[in-house]
Amino acid sequence: MNSQNPRAQLRAGMVGMGMIFDETYRPFFESVHAKGLYDRRFGDLDVTMVAVASKTGQRADRYLEQSKGKIPTFKSFRGDDAVQQMLGENLTFACVATPDDRHFEASKAILKAGVHLLVEKPSVLTLQEIDQLNAIAEEKGLLARVVYHKLLDPDHKKLRTLVHDNVLKHVNNGYCSLLEPRQISGSQFSEWITGRNPGTYVAVHYIKLIDFTFGGRLKTVMCTGQRGLVGPKDGNTWDSCQLRLIYEYESGREAAFDIHTSWVTPDNFPGYVEQEVQFRFDNGIWNGHSRKRGVELTVENMTPLKMKNTINNHYNGSFLEPWGERSQRGYGIEVIDRFAREVAFVEHGGPANQRSQRLAEIRKLDYADLAADRQVVAAVQAMEMILEQQAKGNPDRVARYDGRNLTLS
Ligand SMILES: NC(=O)c1ccc[n+]([C@@H]2O[C@H](COP(=O)([O-])OP(=O)(O)OC[C@H]3O[C@@H](n4cnc5c(N)ncnc54)[C@H](O)[C@@H]3O)[C@@H](O)[C@H]2O)c1
Repeated sequence: MNSQNPRAQLRAGMVGMGMIFDETYRPFFESVHAKGLYDRRFGDLDVTMVAVASKTGQRADRYLEQSKGKIPTFKSFRGDDAVQQMLGENLTFACVATPDDRHFEASKAILKAGVHLLVEKPSVLTLQEIDQLNAIAEEKGLLARVVYHKLLDPDHKKLRTLVHDNVLKHVNNGYCSLLEPRQISGSQFSEWITGRNPGTYVAVHYIKLIDFTFGGRLKTVMCTGQRGLVGPKDGNTWDSCQLRLIYEYESGREAAFDIHTSWVTPDNFPGYVEQEVQFRFDNGIWNGHSRKRGVELTVENMTPLKMKNTINNHYNGSFLEPWGERSQRGYGIEVIDRFAREVAFVEHGGPANQRSQRLAEIRKLDYADLAADRQVVAAVQAMEMILEQQAKGNPDRVARYDGRNLTLS
């Protein structure tokens, strides 16, 4: 770099500085600051987190201290107007990692300001919200993308490859389970857990995996849940829930999937997060267990509470690399790196007059595009509608999706 030819910069904003920021965005911004972002199509770019917006600013203040020397100083905005203030910083893209019922307002403000968007899962909670965001992104010529890092898990990539290549033929049914420790609902998320459920928080990972991997048309959603630990037994804050989705494929054949989730599993259970899937096909069966990929570790006085017995080194791990470098890597971080590359390609991957072609090329990549997330949002909205009815004393409702709208019966 020299003063005549400064490197182009992607200026990033961050809304929400909680657990997922620390696990995935922080290591991405630190590593990209040290190494830059390079691709032959867009050259050597700087990616810098220039501003953040959060509720109280406390974690941002702490990170400003801790990050000295790792990333440049950033501006921290707090309070009700924080997102708008952050958007005054001439951003290229902004990421939203607030609690899921606060994704929409921040995402809308970001897109309206002409800034590319990356939002955590679940993107938003209603079809009306996703349609609004997609319309703004379309009108403004922006990327609106959502993080589903499980699609980048090598095991899930292999599953999808086998389905795509027709080695595994027609899925008939399957189950997924994802269990979180009690500390998640009891302390980590205590600020926002009231009125929420673990299905929206984590079943959505598997809704997307099923939707993206097998395709098809979502027709029916059923759900039930249990209460009494996180909140009152007749309230609307859920300990665990069981979701069933029914899909129909072009062949006219159907498949059903059950997804069980909980955030009240005892803190000392073997995996920090327990994740299991089984999919049954006409000619095969896929069994996956992300916690039993091979490592079982015991360290006196550390496992299972300070350190986990069965660690998922594929999602996000801290390593001493064979060449001596300390690193933090995994598919949870790769997915953010990939988004930055997509933005870089749109903005710097060729002549300005071909930007719209580049934008269209990236928007066609369904794995993350908000326009392709509608069916997942329909499933989440249906689940929440059914749980709301159960809390009101009308259990066992069924939601049907006709491709545009949801109806409850
Ligand atoms: N990809 C994954 O596997 C994964 C894992 C965990 C969480 N998440 C998602 O990330 C999001 C955040 O989860 P988390 O675990 O980091 O939560 P958290 O509670 O640890 O952090 C939330 C952050 O959002 C901020 N915030 C809350 N309301 C805000 C508002 N109105 N404006 C600005 N900032 C606000 C808080 O100050 C805090 O910094 C959720 O959508 C969650 O589903 C994704």
